[in-house]
Amino acid sequence: MVRLLDVYKTYENGTNALKSVSLRIDDGEFVFLVGPSGSGKSTITKILTSEIKPTSGHAMINGYNLVTIKESEVPYMRRTIGVVFQDFRLIEKKTVYENVAFAMRAVGAPTKMIKKRVGYVLELVGLAHKAKRFPHELAGGEQQRVAIARALINNPKMLIADEPTGNLDPRRSLEIMKLFERINSLGTTVLVVTHERELVDDLSKRVVAIDNGRIISDRTGGYYQE
Ligand SMILES: Nc1ncnc2c1ncn2[C@@H]1O[C@H](COP(=O)(O)OP(=O)(O)O)[C@@H](O)[C@H]1O
Ligand SMILES: [Mg+2]
Repeated sequence: MVRLLDVYKTYENGTNALKSVSLRIDDGEFVFLVGPSGSGKSTITKILTSEIKPTSGHAMINGYNLVTIKESEVPYMRRTIGVVFQDFRLIEKKTVYENVAFAMRAVGAPTKMIKKRVGYVLELVGLAHKAKRFPHELAGGEQQRVAIARALINNPKMLIADEPTGNLDPRRSLEIMKLFERINSLGTTVLVVTHERELVDDLSKRVVAIDNGRIISDRTGGYYQE
């Protein structure tokens, strides 16, 4: 779940990136966040991942208060979310398997459990047969699917993807969106940031539109239209 209430963000240089943003996302929802470049989309995702704090207002994710959260609690909050970026951010020297297993090792899971879970998530993203490959041996769409598998490894309640298809061609992009749809149908809340209008129109989901730091539309079924 996400609760943003009257959130403002002013960066140190004086840019007002968010102005009175309120947004409620319930468990199990699939939401697209759309808007032009510079409209404040990543500022929202960075608040949700606790990379930055709001200047004022209330912000919660999965029961954690993002305004008052202590540094020491942030890793626990982050285990409840999976994050996917435009540039994949895989570790080049690790195999697909190791890239995905990494975050589970970090929380001290036993090897047997890791094997089972990595097998499951790689199967889910359609890459079980590429477990031994290295990132540079994969196409862009495949690399992004590895990143998605990695984001899901610790079974987060919510997946947040910031322009995940920005580096992919339209066909791969649609595949990725369909994958998010499937992940959502299995129970994970999904927030996808994008400015690709056609993709959003293809899937009949809730679409929250932001422009110049303000939410200007929130409706189901297609891109914002004036
Ligand atoms: N670290 C920062 N310092 C100053 N201004 C920033 C910073 N990050 C983003 N901005 C500005 O805040 C506004 C919103 O940016 P952002 O949230 O990244 O937009 P989007 O993801 O929709 O492209 C833009 O005007 C951008 O230039
Ligand atoms: Mg952005």
